[in-house]
Amino acid sequence: MHFRVIVCLVLVITSCSLLMNACRFSESEKRAVTRKKEPVPLGSISALPEHYLSPEDNPTTAEKIELGRLLFYDPILSGNKDVACASCHHPEFGYAESLPLSIGVNGHGLGERRRFNAQNDIPFTKRNSQTILNTAFNGIDENGNYRPDDAPMFWDLRAKGLEEQALIPIKTLEEMRGHGFQEAAITDEIERRLKNIGQYRKLFKNVFGENAITAVNIGKALSGFQRSLVANNSRFDRYMRGDKSAMSIREIEGMQLFMNVGCARCHSGPMLSDYKTHVMGVVDNEQLAVSDSGFQRSYAFRTPSLRNLRFTRPYMHNGKIKELKEVMTFYEDLPGKDVPNRNVKKEQIDTLARMLKLEFRDINTILEFLSTLNDDKYDRKIPASVPSGLPVGGKIK
Ligand code: HEC
Ligand code: HEC
Repeated sequence: MHFRVIVCLVLVITSCSLLMNACRFSESEKRAVTRKKEPVPLGSISALPEHYLSPEDNPTTAEKIELGRLLFYDPILSGNKDVACASCHHPEFGYAESLPLSIGVNGHGLGERRRFNAQNDIPFTKRNSQTILNTAFNGIDENGNYRPDDAPMFWDLRAKGLEEQALIPIKTLEEMRGHGFQEAAITDEIERRLKNIGQYRKLFKNVFGENAITAVNIGKALSGFQRSLVANNSRFDRYMRGDKSAMSIREIEGMQLFMNVGCARCHSGPMLSDYKTHVMGVVDNEQLAVSDSGFQRSYAFRTPSLRNLRFTRPYMHNGKIKELKEVMTFYEDLPGKDVPNRNVKKEQIDTLARMLKLEFRDINTILEFLSTLNDDKYDRKIPASVPSGLPVGGKIK
């Protein structure tokens, strides 16, 4: 009798604590489930600031901008004196260019007519040329914060800030260097060349002081010019700053769809980019000898800005998509169909991309919204001549 009572009590106590444990377990499980169900924020978009910031050690001045402009158009910066920055970043194409992959060294012509010379052993550039417009704002977040000296650059974020970026094309074989010079020797060669040109000696002295023709200052002048290439007064910007007549009803509807479908989870902030990398599975460009695996060999690429798309076709990191409408069908197919890039598995595609809910009937309305992000009133001034006396912009005629 006594013994039975004890057994009963023990049984009651254990089952009670088991029950309580079960309760506690299901409690935390419940929390995990609700956490999973919490909606991922849709992101937010906004107007660009009216003014841009410069790094502390490279303030922007009118003289610096004009010196940078001359350097940007002067093929003296390239090994064979045949390519300038402007060969691949031309105002006619929104400071990008129109080939899927660019032709630098040993090329001629501009835009779709640009070709390699008959005798050629130089490859295409690895990726589609990015626009220089608004690179002053690279890295700007949803709260409008950014640091110009730390700004993410390139499709794979491999450089920080315009100043660091500017010397990279000069050192790259297929972009500007060519076979004539080693990577370690080319900037000394460029310094030597500029020192031999009286007009550059004078201009560098005005902007930077005595003995100013150095690689660092070449980078600073180029950056000063590029930073000044701002296009921050699109109809979208005016609408967001309060001019409600700047966008049509359909364009506003397109903007709402853009948000609701989930585009702004990545295309967020004033540049419509989170400046992060995402795996999207865009098909490889067959003009490249090896597959481009992007950021840390993960097949992720940086979210591009959606500003000024009218001028910067073709699209994606390798120019594989010709028209905006095709980019839209790419997104429509993304959650369901096979990944276009056969090196990327379905599970690798970014979760935020798989969450997209884009329907065919919404495509045209979203495209109307994207057209409000164009601002064609940017600085297109091309110098009449450059101090070296070489053809302005390189062999682009
Ligand atoms: C042969 C074509 C070519 C030439 C010449 C060239 N670029 Fe580029 N540029 C590109 C390509 C392609 C990219 C994208 C490369 C990547 O992401 O890997 C790029 C990217 C950039 C970017 C990054 C933009 C961003 O949003 O991250 C800047 C800035 C830039 N170039 C400036 C310059 C400057 C300055 C020069 C001259 C010193 C120059 N480029 C010469 C093709 C070129
Ligand atoms: C998961 C993040 C993500 C989402 C969500 C997303 N994008 Fe993108 N978008 C990217 C990335 C990354 C690229 C570049 C991919 C590449 O080149 O490999 C890109 C490229 C683009 C381009 C080409 C731009 C250019 O200059 O090449 C357009 C246009 C575009 N996206 C529009 C949209 C629209 C519209 C939506 C919503 C339907 C959307 N994106 C949703 C990350 C995203």
